[in-house]
Amino acid sequence: MPGLLLGDEFPNFEADTTIGRIKFHDFLGNSWGILFSHPKDFTPVCTTELACAARVTDQFKKRGVKMIALSIDSVEDHRNWSKDVMAFNSDADTALPFPIIADDNRELSVQLGMLDPDERDKDGLPLTARCVFVIGPDKKLKLSILYPATTGRNFDELLRVIDSLQLTAQKKVATPVDWKPGDKVMVIPSLSDAEAAALFPSGVTTKELPSGKKYLRYTQP
Ligand code: BEZ
Repeated sequence: MPGLLLGDEFPNFEADTTIGRIKFHDFLGNSWGILFSHPKDFTPVCTTELACAARVTDQFKKRGVKMIALSIDSVEDHRNWSKDVMAFNSDADTALPFPIIADDNRELSVQLGMLDPDERDKDGLPLTARCVFVIGPDKKLKLSILYPATTGRNFDELLRVIDSLQLTAQKKVATPVDWKPGDKVMVIPSLSDAEAAALFPSGVTTKELPSGKKYLRYTQP
């Protein structure tokens, strides 16, 4: 992601949104945040993604994560599109449960490196890619994902990575392939066996390997 690396402070941008003008850090408060961008309003894949995001809002809320979307259209377009999104969910009487940032001049998309040079609008201008930024309560970037406009994201996976990020922010563990909450986790390599034994009273099991190196250490967090 050009310009924005894991661990960087996320820009405290100001923007117009469907809930009015915001300063991003004030919007986040002390919460975790997820910002996900969309190529364009009134487009099919984006509509299915926003509808899915709306359906799983309670899951993000439960994890203390504030949601905000972005697309390169105006607040007025976003408000009208939101009605389509909620109608797609057969929930036309409910408002979209999170705001959408209006980036019709593409200022923020450029600043955050979100433009997809391969996807262009009818005037030849680049559309936004499907970026996901997860921001910690310290306002630092914890995760970024970048998909092209033609590939929709998986919100179950976003919830899974947030579970991993929140767990590994608290404990000196890492989550292995396909990890889900409740599964065993790995002790991070920088911890000695003695430190691991002290930190994980539930016990640490080590898998024997041909190398004889004892780096596959599991524990229950
Ligand atoms: C879509 O959301 O369906 C879409 C948007 C831009 C390019 C391709 C697909």
